[in-house]
Amino acid sequence: MKVTIVGCGNMGLVYARAFLRYQIVNADSLILAEKNEQRRDELMRLNLGKVTVADTPEIGDTDLLILAVKPQDFSDLAPKIAPYLTSRTTVVSIMAGITLQQLASSLGTTQVVRAMPNSPVELGLGMTGFSAGTDVLVAQIRQVEQLIATTGRTVFFEDEKMLDAVTAVSGSGPAYFFYIVRAMIEAGKEMGMSEAVAATLVKQTMLGSFHLINNAGKSLDDLIGTVASRGGTTEAALREFEKYHVHEGLKEGMKKAEQRAGELANLKS
Ligand SMILES: NC(=O)c1ccc[n+]([C@@H]2O[C@H](COP(=O)([O-])OP(=O)(O)OC[C@H]3O[C@@H](n4cnc5c(N)ncnc54)[C@H](OP(=O)(O)O)[C@@H]3O)[C@@H](O)[C@H]2O)c1
Repeated sequence: MKVTIVGCGNMGLVYARAFLRYQIVNADSLILAEKNEQRRDELMRLNLGKVTVADTPEIGDTDLLILAVKPQDFSDLAPKIAPYLTSRTTVVSIMAGITLQQLASSLGTTQVVRAMPNSPVELGLGMTGFSAGTDVLVAQIRQVEQLIATTGRTVFFEDEKMLDAVTAVSGSGPAYFFYIVRAMIEAGKEMGMSEAVAATLVKQTMLGSFHLINNAGKSLDDLIGTVASRGGTTEAALREFEKYHVHEGLKEGMKKAEQRAGELANLKS
């Protein structure tokens, strides 16, 4: 299989490394198309694949083409690569807010897949939701899934509209988590801990609790109940959270993110 990555910044590089690590492709079958000259020099030094620019016929000589430029660069890029694309190539876009319909009309191919990864892909612990144009065959979807799975877990959505929710839940999700962790560390400091000690307590608590979610065989309500005994400290904290509408606030914030994802996609159409 031949794979081309167009736009080899942060995300493009993550994918290149992940594909090679899992031997989905070897460096001979990987093309890295990058506009930025300095970045191209860096990529050449890394020796991950053949380094080139996007507006070259060889861009079409590929089974899978990953589009990892910023969404605002897509309108400039699309006419440069469209003439070289044929039905042989499945295009996978990770650009936030560019719809399947926009991809198909700008690139002149219906072999399009839209994926929404999140930042832990960098560690192979990412979460990516993806959706495909109706002309993309199941075999192609499987191939794309195999590629994306090198960066973490994947979920396929028949309905592209769900990618707005994916953006709100897992795409932006790492920031919500960091926000909560930061608040907990600040609280620890306000109780007299040093930042380092508070951070150690909070990070280890998050890690251990995450594993309990997956391995304790209990519901979230049961897990909360196990820690929050009646009249105790945790219950006092949870009551205060309710007073400040933390639960509702988080949910409402996420719904706003979903709405914004839809608005941004419409703005670009
Ligand atoms: N970071 C995340 O967690 C995350 C999550 C979900 C989705 N995404 C999506 O991932 C995409 C890439 O994000 P990123 O953070 O990796 O961006 P980035 O670091 O800016 O990388 C994009 C690269 O593409 C290059 N480029 C621009 N136009 C090009 C062209 N015509 N041909 C070839 N290369 C071109 C840019 O060069 P210049 O610097 O010279 O412009 C840059 O090196 C975005 O669309 C974003 O929406 C990211």
